Formats: sequence, structure tokens, C-alpha cells
Amino acid sequence: MSEKGLIAAHGGKLVNLVVSDAEKGKLEAAAKDMVRIELPAREQCDLELLSCGAMSPLEGFMGEKDFHAVCDNMRLANGLPWPMPITCSVSEDVAAGIKVGQQVALTDDQDRLLGVLEVTEKYAHDKKKEAEKAYGTTDEAHPGVAVVYSQGDVCLGGPLKVTTPRHDPDFTEYRLTPAQTRADFQKKGWKTAVAFQTRNPIHRAHEYIIKCALEITDGLMVHPLVGETKEGDIPADVRMQCYEVLLKNYFNSKNTELAVWPAAMRYAGPREAILHALVRKNYGCTHFIVGRDHAGVGDYYGTYDAQRIFDEFEPGELGITPLNFEHSFWCKVSGAMASDKTTNSGKEDRVFLSGTKVREMLANGQRPPAEFTRPEVADILIGAMQAK
Ligand code: ADX
Repeated sequence: MSEKGLIAAHGGKLVNLVVSDAEKGKLEAAAKDMVRIELPAREQCDLELLSCGAMSPLEGFMGEKDFHAVCDNMRLANGLPWPMPITCSVSEDVAAGIKVGQQVALTDDQDRLLGVLEVTEKYAHDKKKEAEKAYGTTDEAHPGVAVVYSQGDVCLGGPLKVTTPRHDPDFTEYRLTPAQTRADFQKKGWKTAVAFQTRNPIHRAHEYIIKCALEITDGLMVHPLVGETKEGDIPADVRMQCYEVLLKNYFNSKNTELAVWPAAMRYAGPREAILHALVRKNYGCTHFIVGRDHAGVGDYYGTYDAQRIFDEFEPGELGITPLNFEHSFWCKVSGAMASDKTTNSGKEDRVFLSGTKVREMLANGQRPPAEFTRPEVADILIGAMQAK
């Protein structure tokens, strides 16, 4: 605990890389003469997270020692737990024009300045190693690995100064920084807060595990990922409508906060679960929900691998407590949500719908059963499918 009773940021100090207004003007002027590097979508998301301290203790894009230590040991070179490389990479041609010690301007896809990276290292981007170690597969059909393979062959490491974390951000009222969520928790008197990561509409199983978690903490932060997701995932603006209506109708607003997490989804399963947890610690959460196949995709990971990976760290070392939940469903015998832990009903007594089936129903304007999705949420999804 630190900062008047709030949980300490990872590494002890909440990082802030956003420069003062005075420095911003100077950096913007200086950046006009720098090499400009357009960041791809994932790196733009990472820059925003680095800027506000969501990725504390990182103060820039990773250098070579950290890259390899993270891949090999799930730790930074200084030993602190960290599961995924956070890199800025360029092609060999671009790298050839950049000297170590030089500053480069990082821009978005409209050439607008985001920040300045002081390049203290250039090193080979071992993409295969990153894929194998961090994603557990070198299969380019894996959507997270495909992004790694599309990145540059040379990584630029070094400290970052951010002038504008994001131009034209969405969901501004919910786009809270770690400093803001921490202040909110404190104002509300929450000593413990559980974070719920999601990239989907909240169905009844999600709602069940969230509410179980909230029974043992003071507060809940529903923290949907709204950065890059893969083709086929439901867009963030549609999901936001679902979260709003669900929270309004079925949750106690005193104990619940909705904030967006502007991160790119990596679909890295277990390793990403650790990342998701550490980052939420930086937002001030003490607990983190890990359910079935957390951050998984296809059948790359085992159902509970993302829970087991937490055991690879010493108790307390991560500083945030995972709350594990088994696969949950509506149980007809109990007339309630349940899991294998709480019912021994058979398959025929459980409401289970595949993702494909649900999409098919929604596309046909049909609500899935209320035991699966709240009708208000179903209606928003149907509307979005039909508008498409
Ligand atoms: S994720 O990529 O963000 O993990 P999703 O939004 O579907 O995907 O899941 C959010 C959280 O809910 C994850 O912790 C996931 O493991 C959990 N979860 C999703 N569905 C279920 C379920 N039926 N039973 C238990 N946990 C679930």
C-alpha cells in the first residue's frame, strides 16, 4: 500500500510521460526536424498506455535486455515481473537512418505528433522468439502473432516523452487515466477494487462472475478494452452501449465504475492475463477477474492456462490478487447461474450457446434466451448487426 492507502503501482511509482504545456511547445517545434516514424495501431495504443503510467514502471519502449528477459523469464532485466514485450520497431532501411542517441518523432497515421523517443538502443527484433515465448505459438494465423510478424525487424528502445497521448480520442468521459481512477476509488472510499477486463458484450456468465467478485471487494471497475481488436470482434462503440445499459439496469452504481482501457488486444492468453492484471494494479485495483480462456483465441490455450500462470510467481509478488472463475452458465436445475463448482447438473440442463450460434440469432433479429443475454443487450446487438 502507498499513496494514502491505495495499492502501489507496479515497481512502486506511477509513471507520467506527458510533458508540461511549456515543454510541449518546445518539443513540437524540435520534432519538425526529426525523423518521423508512423506508429502502427498497436504501438499507438501502447504509447497512450505508457504515457499515463498504465504500464508503470516502463518509461518508454523496451531495450534489448528487457525484451529478452521478458520473453525468457516473464521479467524485466531488473527482475520485476512483466510478461509481454512492449516495443517500437522499424524496417532495417528506416533504422539505418537513425543513430543511437538521436531523438525521433512518433506520429499517428495522420502524421500528427504523439511524442518523442530518445533512441538509446537499436536491436534485432526477434519476432519468432516473441511469438513462441509470449504467445506460445509461431502460427501466423494467430491474430496477435500476425501483428508481431507485421512489425519492423529493428526495435528502437529508449525513454519516451509524450506530447499528445491520442488525437481525437473516443469515449472521452470514460477514458480515465490511472491517476484518475485511483482518485475516484479514494473518493468513494474503496479500499479494495476488482477490475473486469472484457472485449465482448457482457453476457450473463460475465455478469455472474463480476457480481461474485464484487461480493468480496468494495468496488468494481468494468474496464473494457477499446483499442485494436481483430476482425469479427464486436466494435467498441456497440459494446459501450451494451455496458451502459447493463450497468444502469442491473448494477448498483454506488459500487461500480465504468472506464475504458485504450489497449490493443494481443490474444496472448496466459501471458496477456498477467499483463492485464499488472496494468489494472496501476489503475489502483487490488483484485482482477480471470475466468475461462482469458484473452484467448481459437484453441491456442487451455481453458484455465491463464489462471495457472499466476502460480509461476511468488505469492504477493504481482501485488494484485487474481480471482479465478470456472466456466459459468445458466443451470436449469438450480434456476440460477452456476459452474461445475456449484452444480452437478448434466449438459442437457445447462444453457450453452456457441459464439457462432449467438451471432446467427442476432443477425436474424432473434434475442438469445434471457438466461444467456439480457434482452436490453440483445436488442443493441441486433440493432448493430442489422445496421451492418
Ligand atoms: S477476454 O479476451 O477479454 O478475456 P471476454 O470479454 O469474453 O474475453 O472475457 C472477459 C472475462 O470473462 C475473462 O476473464 C474471461 O475468462 C471471462 N469469461 C468469459 N466467459 C466466461 C464464462 N462463460 N465463464 C467464466 N468466465 C468467463
